[in-house]
Amino acid sequence: MKKVLMVFLSVSLLVVLLSVSACAPDENGGGNNETGVKKIGIVQIVEHPSLNTIRETLIDELAAMGFVDGENITIDYQNAQGDQSNLKTICQKFANHNYDLIIAIATPSAQAAAGETEEIPVLFSACTDPIGTGLVDNLEKPGKNVTGTSDAVSAEQIMELALRITPEIKKIGALYNSSETNSVSVINDLKAYATRNKMTVIEATVTNSSEVQQAVQSLVEKVDAIFSPIDNTVAEAMPLVTQVTRKAKIPMYVGADSMVEDGGLATYGINYVTLGRETARMAAEILKGKKAGDLPVKMFDDFEIYLNLETAEAIGLTIPDEVLDEAVKTFGK
Ligand code: TRP
Repeated sequence: MKKVLMVFLSVSLLVVLLSVSACAPDENGGGNNETGVKKIGIVQIVEHPSLNTIRETLIDELAAMGFVDGENITIDYQNAQGDQSNLKTICQKFANHNYDLIIAIATPSAQAAAGETEEIPVLFSACTDPIGTGLVDNLEKPGKNVTGTSDAVSAEQIMELALRITPEIKKIGALYNSSETNSVSVINDLKAYATRNKMTVIEATVTNSSEVQQAVQSLVEKVDAIFSPIDNTVAEAMPLVTQVTRKAKIPMYVGADSMVEDGGLATYGINYVTLGRETARMAAEILKGKKAGDLPVKMFDDFEIYLNLETAEAIGLTIPDEVLDEAVKTFGK
């Protein structure tokens, strides 16, 4: 009898073992697997310094919190090279392979990820206008599988800084990608500000980065200054934009520090290292079992002044001392 029981037990053990290995992830990975290693997909729309800072910071911060790539988590990082159809393919892969978490850097990536899954948590990073772009309906309680961090800045506050540096702005050029919803909402704020302050907004919109140089060229002939929101397409083309604005001696005010680093004159913006850390903190909560929809969207309001002094010199401008003193960071000199 004892022997029969032993045989029975070993056979059942074998069956259990076999069924466990049948459920193990395939080589492309699979979420919720029995090894306990969670699979994280990171999707980024383009390469530019700001988005890279976010990604690098969040991976480092996750490691500092004990989530180490190649040990207890696997990170699959994919860049769409500015191409919407790549974004879709990448997010479909993440969803089909049942990843445990998708981290989507910038609005276009987040929209693509949220379009592919209602189950896998989607953590967006640096989405300027999460409500206006339809990612969540409620910042405090997003509810569904999507939450994240926002890098919203204020067009009004950036324009107030612009007027402290160059008080004579009457015509302001708006350079942005009209299909980036994150930019459109900030441009609407710019227009409202301009109306209140008797300025005219002259727009030059683009649909991809190859159009940016021509758009900025046409704009510098018509305006006193240029404003670009936190626009992925313009950010990618900033080195070219800078050549044109410096030559024409037109000040350019932008939405993000990296755009100042790449030659924009100034911003009143957020710190993307802080934002990357905060995104990692939320990722850790989700990995530990919290529901994305229960985590409020994180906004930042500690804006700081960033200046490019090389640009100031190139356009023959002296930055007022009180603005210089207030700047948290200056680039180019
Ligand atoms: N806020 C942008 C978005 O919603 C993404 C972004 C973050 C960005 N930092 C940037 C864009 C710097 C341009 C420059 O998509």
